[in-house]
Amino acid sequence: MSHLIAPSLLSCDLSDIKSEILMLNKSKADWYHIDVMDGYFVPNITFGFPIIKSIKKYSKKPLDVHLMITNPSKYILDFKNAGADILTIHYEVENHLDRTVNKIKSNGMKAGVAINPHTPISYLENIINMIDIVCLMSVNPGFGGQKFIINTYKKITQLKNLILNNSSKTLIEIDGGVTLENKNKLLNLGADILVAGNTIFSNPDPNEIISKLKFN
Ligand code: DX5
Ligand code: ZN
Repeated sequence: MSHLIAPSLLSCDLSDIKSEILMLNKSKADWYHIDVMDGYFVPNITFGFPIIKSIKKYSKKPLDVHLMITNPSKYILDFKNAGADILTIHYEVENHLDRTVNKIKSNGMKAGVAINPHTPISYLENIINMIDIVCLMSVNPGFGGQKFIINTYKKITQLKNLILNNSSKTLIEIDGGVTLENKNKLLNLGADILVAGNTIFSNPDPNEIISKLKFN
C-alpha cells in the first residue's frame, strides 16, 4: 500500500473552511485529519460536532478524527453521527481501551489509538491486533506547528517490530512536525500515514506540498 497523507485542518484557514475542503478534495490528500481538543487532556480547545458535520457536508474523503479529550467513550456515537470515518482515542485517558475500541468498530468506524511521546510502545502489546491504526504523537499534543521529537524514530521501529511479530495489519500514523525533510525517513522506517498541518498550510501552494509529501 502506498502511504497516505492526512492534512491537519487545525492549520488551514478556518475562516474559509469550505474553500479549504473543496481545494483538498481536488488534491492528492487521502484523509482529512481533525483534531478535537477539550482543554483538559490538552491545553487547547478546538472543534466540536457542528464543525465536523459542516466539514463532512463538503468532504469527498474520509474524516480522520483525533480525539484529545478526557472522556472519549461518552461520545463515540456522536462522532459517528457527525461524520467520523476513523476515530482515534488516546491511550493515556482510557481505562477501558478494549471496550471503547470495540465500541468504535461496532459503530462502523476504523479504530485508532494514539500515544503521547512519553508513552512506551510496549503498552500496546495486548491491543495491537484489535486496532486499525496506531497514531504516534511526534509532538506533545495540543498545538500545530511544533518541532518534531527525534525519539519518535526509535518508536516507529519498535512499533513496526510489534506489528510484524504479531502478524498485525495495523497502520502507523505519524502526527506532529512532519516536513518534506523528515518524511522519507519516516516512510523508510515504516510509517503508513503522515499527518501534516503547518507544512501544508503555511505554504502558498498547499496542493503542491501535498503532492510532494505523497510522491517525491
Ligand atoms: C497536535 C495535533 C496535530 C497537529 C499537527 O496536537 O494532533 O494533528 O495538528 O500539526 P503540525 O503538522 O503542524 O505539527
Ligand atoms: Zn492530530
